[in-house]
Amino acid sequence: MNARGDLPPRLHRIEVEGGSAFEVDSGEDTLLRGALRAGLAFPYECSVGGCGSCRFELLDGEVRTLWADAPGLSARDRARGRRLACQSQPLGDCRIRVRVDAAAPSVGMVPRRMQGMLASRRDLTPDMAEFAFRVPPGAGFLPGQYAVLHLPGVVGVRAYSMSNLAGEEGTWRFIVRRVPDGRGSTTLFDRTGVGSCVELDGPYGHAHLRPGDRDVVCVAGGSGLGPMLSVARGVLAEGGARRVHFFLGLRTQHDLGARDEIATLVGPRLQATTVLSAPLPGLPWDGPAGFVHAALAALPGGVSDACDYYFAGPPPMVEALQDLLVIQARVPHGQIHFDRFV
Ligand SMILES: Cc1cc2nc3c(=O)[nH]c(=O)nc-3n(C[C@H](O)[C@H](O)[C@H](O)COP(=O)(O)OP(=O)(O)OC[C@H]3O[C@@H](n4cnc5c(N)ncnc54)[C@H](O)[C@@H]3O)c2cc1C
Ligand code: FES
Repeated sequence: MNARGDLPPRLHRIEVEGGSAFEVDSGEDTLLRGALRAGLAFPYECSVGGCGSCRFELLDGEVRTLWADAPGLSARDRARGRRLACQSQPLGDCRIRVRVDAAAPSVGMVPRRMQGMLASRRDLTPDMAEFAFRVPPGAGFLPGQYAVLHLPGVVGVRAYSMSNLAGEEGTWRFIVRRVPDGRGSTTLFDRTGVGSCVELDGPYGHAHLRPGDRDVVCVAGGSGLGPMLSVARGVLAEGGARRVHFFLGLRTQHDLGARDEIATLVGPRLQATTVLSAPLPGLPWDGPAGFVHAALAALPGGVSDACDYYFAGPPPMVEALQDLLVIQARVPHGQIHFDRFV
């Protein structure tokens, strides 16, 4: 506040070296969210501090860092003065250096903040549930995208992917796994009752369904099921000829309730394989066991550039699939779309 008692201005102009500029409401937004709301193709992936894709250099001005220890920055990045746009709030006008890809395809939908009311919760497994939020009419997203949730009493935001298709009477569904001692997921499971309101912000994410003719392979690890269901539903809703090969990786027989979510989609255009990584010896299981990426060898014709690949789940699964698709099978980058649940 200044001597006259005026509140400091919150709308700050961010100039990107070599071209574009945008404004950020620092009371509401990080630098990344301001850029995306302005329609700028600012580089990002997770938007929650885990991946490092949104690194930038501050040339002029001042920013507040929200999460100083965010794993998206290495010690080398910090030594070089790099920052994360998803963890930086401008304190005034700034000038920054970042490689904004002018040729990047625009997703066409800018993220917006809204109040979501928890309309229902449905348990799928002992530690996974579907949370359905009612959002304002017209709020859209593409199959495979995610939203960030501001959960009461939780520091930072949490990213969760929509499992349905947009337009379902203003409902955004999320399949969430309870992480033991996880602050965000336990708040959702234990302290967010039906009828509670939560701030949702979205849509975000590049791993959304693209139009095309090639068959689609979806690989879901655990709660990666959510966005992969959305992608599969998107393909089936197109009504074209392309088919979906759906691979779901779970741990034990206790998780098999999640498989029922795909069962309703299985038909002439979708076939599904469930793989257990640690089947329990005392319980029946005659399906494949091991890592879910290894099951892709069962694809008709093997792993090849005949398909487009979508995957979501824990980082080790994502890395194994990148290795398999990019290095071993030489599938072009444009046919591979994924979200790492960092
Ligand atoms: C793109 C994307 C999509 C995802 N989709 C899903 C989904 O559909 N279903 C699902 O179950 N999970 C999903 N996740 C994982 C989810 O966002 C959470 O990481 C997970 O639920 C664990 O959160 P937690 O709060 O329970 O655990 P915690 O251990 O309490 O928190 C883990 C996460 O919180 C954030 N965080 C931690 N500390 C701070 C801090 N001080 N400041 C700011 N941020 C902090 C980080 O992102 C960290 O990875 C997704 C993740 C990403 C990146
Ligand atoms: S987008 Fe900022 S760290 Fe992932």
